[in-house]
Amino acid sequence: MSFELTEEQAMIQTMVRDFAREVLLPTAAERDRTKEFPAENLKKMAGLGLLGMMVPPEYNGAGVDTASYVLALQEIAYACAATAVVMSVQNSVVCETINRFGTEEQKEAYLKPLAAGEFIGAFALTEPHAGSDPVSQSTSAVRDGDHYIVNGNKRFITSGKNANVVIITVKTDKAKRHKGISALLVEKGTQGFSVGKIEEKMGLCASDTTDLIFENCRIPAKNLLGQEGDGFKIAMTALDGGRIGIASQSIGVAQAALDAACSYAKEREQFGRSISKFQGLRWMLADMATELEAARQLTFFAAERKDKGKKYTMEASMAKLFASEMVNRVTAKALQIHGGYGYTKDYPVERFYRDARVFTIYEGTSEIQRVVIANQLLQDRYVSSLR
Ligand code: CAA
Repeated sequence: MSFELTEEQAMIQTMVRDFAREVLLPTAAERDRTKEFPAENLKKMAGLGLLGMMVPPEYNGAGVDTASYVLALQEIAYACAATAVVMSVQNSVVCETINRFGTEEQKEAYLKPLAAGEFIGAFALTEPHAGSDPVSQSTSAVRDGDHYIVNGNKRFITSGKNANVVIITVKTDKAKRHKGISALLVEKGTQGFSVGKIEEKMGLCASDTTDLIFENCRIPAKNLLGQEGDGFKIAMTALDGGRIGIASQSIGVAQAALDAACSYAKEREQFGRSISKFQGLRWMLADMATELEAARQLTFFAAERKDKGKKYTMEASMAKLFASEMVNRVTAKALQIHGGYGYTKDYPVERFYRDARVFTIYEGTSEIQRVVIANQLLQDRYVSSLR
């Protein structure tokens, strides 16, 4: 890929950058403090087509490519990482999944309002005892006529409290391993479905992360995504796209941290001169910028393969692994450059540092990304960007 933006991609980048810096950035610290879900801002983002970016226009989406989505998400994350994770889950693991696996009826009922921003979506795979190993999940669904009866708990669900519709994975056949897992669409307000514990988190405070509880919850059988037994593959496919989203989020936060570090370094004086003149600090900035650009290229590479309809599981995991580890290093260095001030809430770098911490954990830990990459590599799936 040339990484030259097309006219449309450049236009989207500028439009989202202007919006994010004018509307989201000035209130991001306040949202972090109050933990208030950015409902109004999400409505504005929906007006700009940011909540169903890759969904075709006939389902209210913007119909743009993954590279445009990557650019937009980076800009939102630059301004407010908590808003970015809601956008990422909505676009990648919810809208794309329904668009790919949903029936016409499901698309009418759920994809259209999701892409229009009338609905917020969530994706519920993780359980209290099934994180990195989702095959060991225990939430069950038993067929009863035209319904499934669902019992179990989901954990760490982004937008769990605010979602109007949730994609859940359930065991429909306990005797089978991954082939016994199915995916269902559950609407808010369905009897037997409630929101449990809301997590107190280190970062991304304005984005809710919750338990979801299912107690004899009757879900219409027409809400099955794909066929019975397809749930694990649907979830893995969703996460391939989701991991490009988390990589993009990491890049946005890292860019914000790098910009903050550069401007602080230029204005701060010690030993009679700007600290930006000290080589030790200049090398830190140089490393931060280099790693950031490497992450950007990896992420565009994965996005390009996805847009070309090529397999991109490995490339998405590489982008997610590298970008999420990179942003943790970059935000730590940005904080260090700010000295004591970096540890206070007078500067945004302490928030960047806290927000970034989860990126190496959610949508698959760094360790799981390495498992995915090695699995693909050993299946001769390695494709260099030069090949
Ligand atoms: N696309 C399509 N199919 C896939 C796939 C992919 N990317 N990865 C695996 N599969 C298929 C395999 O082909 C295989 O199917 P067959 O038997 O038909 O060949 C099947 O799935 C099982 O594959 P594996 O044997 O590789 O499965 P595994 O049990 O060893 O697990 C894993 C593989 C990579 C470890 C996987 O379990 C995994 O990704 N774990 C991490 C889960 C995760 O990321 N959780 C985060 C939850 S979401 C979140 O964070 C919340 C949020 O809201 C942000």
